Amino acid sequence: MIFSAVHGAKAPFSHPKGVGITGGSCAPLLICVPVTKKPKRIAVVPGDGIGKEVIPAALGVVRAALGAAAESAISFTEFDWSADRYLKDGTTIPDGEAGFAMLGRDFDAIFVGALGDPRVPSNIHAKEILLGMRFKMDLYANVRPVKLLDESLCPLKNVKPQDVDFVVIRENTEGPYVDAGGVLKLGTLDEVATQEDLNTRKGVERVIRFAFEYARKQSRKKVLMCDKSNVMTFAGGLWQRVFKMVASEYSDIQSAHMYVDALSMHMVRNPKQFDVIVTNNMFGDIITDLAAALQGGLGMAASGNIHPGKTSMFEPVHGSAPLFAGKNFANPMGAILTAAMMLEHLGFTGEAAKINAAVLAAVQQKMTTQDIGGTLGTKECAAWIANRVGARHSSA
Ligand code: NAD
Ligand code: IPM
Ligand code: MN
Repeated sequence: MIFSAVHGAKAPFSHPKGVGITGGSCAPLLICVPVTKKPKRIAVVPGDGIGKEVIPAALGVVRAALGAAAESAISFTEFDWSADRYLKDGTTIPDGEAGFAMLGRDFDAIFVGALGDPRVPSNIHAKEILLGMRFKMDLYANVRPVKLLDESLCPLKNVKPQDVDFVVIRENTEGPYVDAGGVLKLGTLDEVATQEDLNTRKGVERVIRFAFEYARKQSRKKVLMCDKSNVMTFAGGLWQRVFKMVASEYSDIQSAHMYVDALSMHMVRNPKQFDVIVTNNMFGDIITDLAAALQGGLGMAASGNIHPGKTSMFEPVHGSAPLFAGKNFANPMGAILTAAMMLEHLGFTGEAAKINAAVLAAVQQKMTTQDIGGTLGTKECAAWIANRVGARHSSA
């Protein structure tokens, strides 16, 4: 039998990473339970605004899905990195680079709410925490599934759930997000500002390859690359050449291309044609807010920031929605669906499927928040889903 120590924020004793004790004997002071796998360690950063409401709500659903196994299956460690913390003591990520190294070393996944607060107009804490994780942990593929759960949620006429089911793979470590550029003659009538759009061969190739691999694994048929290569010819040229080269290695997957302006129009007029879309950082950001609207709004959209084999980070697509904060008003489903994505990534496929089914049931039974037509608050909606997940239901 294999024994391993339970560890995590709530465990009374810590245990050195990677130590498993075999043979049925335990060192003194360690709590030993028979388990087949080591518990997964999740760093939780609720962040700002509605992040502080939707993350605890989603964790309640995760605990319900894991049931009696919760404590031995997953440990959660919460970090208070946020605008509050920044305003209190100037901390964004403690220890800078070492903080990111700690996340990568000591955790299997990171679950983030949202970052952004009107009291920090520079947005410096969000940049250092959120973009810091994406860049410094090299989480190069931002996977944003777009799935309509019920016809009633789509603002378009006669669009059914089977018509909106695609995934955007957004490059997550390059583009204008690297914040390279500068200003000359600041504040004068002659001011000049530049913002560089950085695209590397390595960065473009790996995200395009990720999209084809993703399509294959998920039994999807088509990968479409979206750019603006008719105008942004240097970066677009690189994306075009690399896309054609990688596509030629995947004869089982169709490849296609659209300019981002036309794609935005097609996404509204005929979303059914999309399967997997791969695009750069900036276009990916913009089209996933549009795509979220097809699903019922930002409150419904989930995402994962992935580097295969490394600690990845999961966060709903929405931000901190300051006007809704503290009102028990925010839709927790984006965060709950994100938690399901994270569980699936960590190998808890059954639990993830149960959560997805319970969210679908909540939508169909109108057990939702007001943004998608229900009357429940954040907590009540999440509690309904947790209850549904915990109960035995064979179908929605
Ligand atoms: P936002 O996503 O916070 O909100 C835009 C609007 O979408 C809200 O006013 C609301 O109508 C709706 N909305 C969003 N989430 C919802 C939910 N869970 N339930 C119901 N409705 C929801 O975007 P914003 O207003 O542009 O940004 C607010 C702050 O959040 C800014 O500081 C921004 O930089 C930050 N932001 C952070 C992230 C992130 O941390 N990943 C993402 C986007 C924006
Ligand atoms: C998102 C957000 C972020 C982005 C902001 C808050 C930096 O809009 O995750 O979609 O632009 O990536
Ligand atoms: Mn965005």
